[in-house]
Amino acid sequence: MARKISFLNYKGGVGKTSLIVNVAAALAKMGKRVLLFDLDTQSNASIWLLRLDRWNKINSSGEGSIFSVFDPGKVHIRDIVVKDVVEGKSGEKVLPGLDLVPTSFNLTDLEGEYSGDPKRPAYLVFCEQVAALEPNYDYIFFDCPPNLLRASQCGVFTSNEIYVPSNPDALSLIGFTLLADKLQKFQALSGSFRKASMGTPAQVQGLIFNSIRTGVDIEVPKMRMQLRLNQFRAAKRAAPGAKIFTVQIRDAMVVRRSVALGLPVILVGSEAADVVDSVTSDYRKLAHELDEHDPSS
Ligand SMILES: Nc1ncnc2c1ncn2[C@@H]1O[C@H](COP(=O)(O)OP(=O)(O)OP(=O)(O)O)[C@@H](O)[C@H]1O
Ligand SMILES: [Mg+2]
Repeated sequence: MARKISFLNYKGGVGKTSLIVNVAAALAKMGKRVLLFDLDTQSNASIWLLRLDRWNKINSSGEGSIFSVFDPGKVHIRDIVVKDVVEGKSGEKVLPGLDLVPTSFNLTDLEGEYSGDPKRPAYLVFCEQVAALEPNYDYIFFDCPPNLLRASQCGVFTSNEIYVPSNPDALSLIGFTLLADKLQKFQALSGSFRKASMGTPAQVQGLIFNSIRTGVDIEVPKMRMQLRLNQFRAAKRAAPGAKIFTVQIRDAMVVRRSVALGLPVILVGSEAADVVDSVTSDYRKLAHELDEHDPSS
């Protein structure tokens, strides 16, 4: 069955979207079958991978966007999967194996107007529909906003693993702490809706440092994060095997540029001579480390 993974931190702008898109792309390049859900109404991952022209059509009609699963509710997730989402300039498929369920700005209504059936919260509806897709994938990723409101709840309830992107600063540590707190409350609240077939409730399995500048020593913030992780593991608020990932992603201009190009970083000049020591190789190594860090094996 697919590994189901959310990237989440209560701190915004730490690199959740850039990490999840680039790791998903690197795994697809390794031959894995990958599905990425964009659960953030900002639609950053959707705009990045679809580019503006394709995304604008979804945003203006609302058709094909994740909110249509809830309202009008007649759409099944399987009908809105964009297969092999990444396209080259002439529309050719350049990364077979990476599929996307896009969002548009109307997802914000899930947090407001949408009430649904209290006996079937949005996250349960979502989780049941994702289960139908699972046999088709090795990895299913959920890009979440920096909160645990309804859209994120869909990802967290459906996932069995959570990874916490972080920058080496105090605010990321606070974001992680807040996340652990909210996560515990949500898992207690949603526990009665879980079935054995859904697997174990998602726990924090790891922290990933992102945007590390060359020459900047991050040992102190890393040590603080490790101490907090140790505390959470001891209190069973993080998984027993949770760790700080060895691979960290350097700060690189190409990460910002790749968004404008509508390509994951591994497809932007990935064959350049300096690939051995580049942010591209960071993402590839991170994908391998994640692939090996499988809590179910
Ligand atoms: N390694 C990196 N090097 C350079 N820029 C980066 C790197 N990682 C992320 N960025 C840039 O930092 C900004 C924030 O990244 P990103 O959107 O991935 O964060 P986020 O955690 O998903 O934010 P949000 O909380 O708004 O969803 C973006 O402009 C992104 O291109
Ligand atoms: Mg994001």
